[in-house]
Amino acid sequence: MELLTIKLKKLFSENISRIFDADYIEKIDIQNSTKKEFGDFQTNFAMMSSKLIGKNPREIANTIIENFEKNDIIEKLEVAGPGFINIFLKNSFLNEEIKKLENEKYDFSFLNTDKTVIIDYSSPNIAKRMHIGHLRSTIIGDSIKRILNFLGFKTLADNHIGDWGTQFGKLIVAYKNWLDKKAYEEDPIGELERIYVLFSDKAKKDSALEDEAREELKKLQLGDEDNQKLWKEFIDISLKEYNKIYERLDVNFDYYYGESFYNDMMPSVLEELKKKNIAREDQGALVVFFEDDKLPPAIVQKKDGSFLYTTSDLATMKFRKNELKVDEAVYLTDDRQQNHFKQVFEIGKMLGEPYDYKKTHIVFGIMRFGDQIFSSRSGNTIRLVDLLDEAKKQVKKVINEKNPNIPEEEKEKISETIGSGAIKYFDLSQNRTSDITFTWEKVLNFEGNTGPYLQYTYVRIMSIFRKLEEENINVENTDIVLDEMAGIERELASELLKFPQAVVKSYENFRPNIIADYLFDTAKLFNSFYNSSSILKEEDKQVMDARILLAKKTAFVLKEGLELLGIKTVNRM
Ligand code: ARG
Repeated sequence: MELLTIKLKKLFSENISRIFDADYIEKIDIQNSTKKEFGDFQTNFAMMSSKLIGKNPREIANTIIENFEKNDIIEKLEVAGPGFINIFLKNSFLNEEIKKLENEKYDFSFLNTDKTVIIDYSSPNIAKRMHIGHLRSTIIGDSIKRILNFLGFKTLADNHIGDWGTQFGKLIVAYKNWLDKKAYEEDPIGELERIYVLFSDKAKKDSALEDEAREELKKLQLGDEDNQKLWKEFIDISLKEYNKIYERLDVNFDYYYGESFYNDMMPSVLEELKKKNIAREDQGALVVFFEDDKLPPAIVQKKDGSFLYTTSDLATMKFRKNELKVDEAVYLTDDRQQNHFKQVFEIGKMLGEPYDYKKTHIVFGIMRFGDQIFSSRSGNTIRLVDLLDEAKKQVKKVINEKNPNIPEEEKEKISETIGSGAIKYFDLSQNRTSDITFTWEKVLNFEGNTGPYLQYTYVRIMSIFRKLEEENINVENTDIVLDEMAGIERELASELLKFPQAVVKSYENFRPNIIADYLFDTAKLFNSFYNSSSILKEEDKQVMDARILLAKKTAFVLKEGLELLGIKTVNRM
């Protein structure tokens, strides 16, 4: 089904070109109305084209309204304020469109979706626990992948794990000297973290350790069997831990090409950089300087011949274009890596083919923790597993109070879904660039813009359908926007049709919170509708059927929207 904004844009374009005898389609933007008094949609066309047409905006708006051809879509048009045109849709049109929901696919072809987009996200560093930045990258990246797929793009999900670098020399030294075997068996990453920290502490007093670490790293790089074996072990152990979290978060990747995957490809990148005079020698290192003097120079090869994060990302860019045939790439990391990505994108432009395709760094702010509910053995890093467990526990407590009769196994499942969904929703519903503070109060609240509130709204609708079944009530396939359905029902119907626009907007800005906001508004509307009109006790059968249908479509939209945020729904709780 065609998006309403697209339909209206075409309709306005036809009328406007006839009235003003010129093509103005590029200037026509159809927006949601800011208030329900302003109709279903608005356009600021008259203001945007006032100079071009040479008349004042209100005059233009009036001319358009007076000369707009009668049609099946628009009930009335009004001028407002400095020259907005408010658009009120016909009930009969809303009715037809609502019936298409769930039965017809949205038509997003106007977005030019015939592209492959690689999403570089999660990307934790081996032998360390994921930190909260990786959690955000995982959650936001997964949602962006879902949104892109929904719109029709082909996506490749790539977990660019940090599996190479100087830390491995240190780890190997630490492993050989101080490993506690028993602890390693119980909590492998915890033990690797412990000995890594131990190394840093000891190395401060004993610089010979650093030399040893360099030696071990060199051996690893040259393919020394023992060190290679250890290195692989560290990777295996870490991935096992990460996968537990991915499984609980329902996150899946197409590739796990870590940094080490690109080792052999870096020398040729360096050759190109030298040949094209992009990198030059500076105090023994190879460095790229930028015209923009706010951007610090980037080192691509150190004095000792080793490569860096930048070099590895350049090799990655090339591989993705040449081998994976991507058209675009998006990267998700916290905002501390802004300069890094500016540098590599800029070098990509200097290098030209095959490096210079469209790339976006999707940044996010820091998540802080407001309450200290969970302990963590390793100081200030939060264990994600603890976070998920705690959410689940707290949700289960609520379910035990509200709905004790649900069988234990189902309770477990529901708690896990609502718990992890609540954490995801908390993250995704925020403006991603702001720093946010996590508190259980905000995350698990059943009121307000939270995961549990949306889940609860969905469950409410499901319980209507359970009752219908229990009481053997048949629902006729009916029209939804009866004329007597004024007020809240009409508002809800109009809102439901705006879902695909919210998805497009959230894609255009890579901001899942636009979908979250939309879902929250929709849930609020549904709940006021639910509280103000009887559904199952309604005496007029036709009105009852129409209301049930509206509830069904609401459930459909909520479910689909939550899915784009990577959140599953449950049927009761
Ligand atoms: N492993 C890096 C980190 O934890 C993030 C990698 C992001 N992706 C990339 N292509 N550089 O900071």
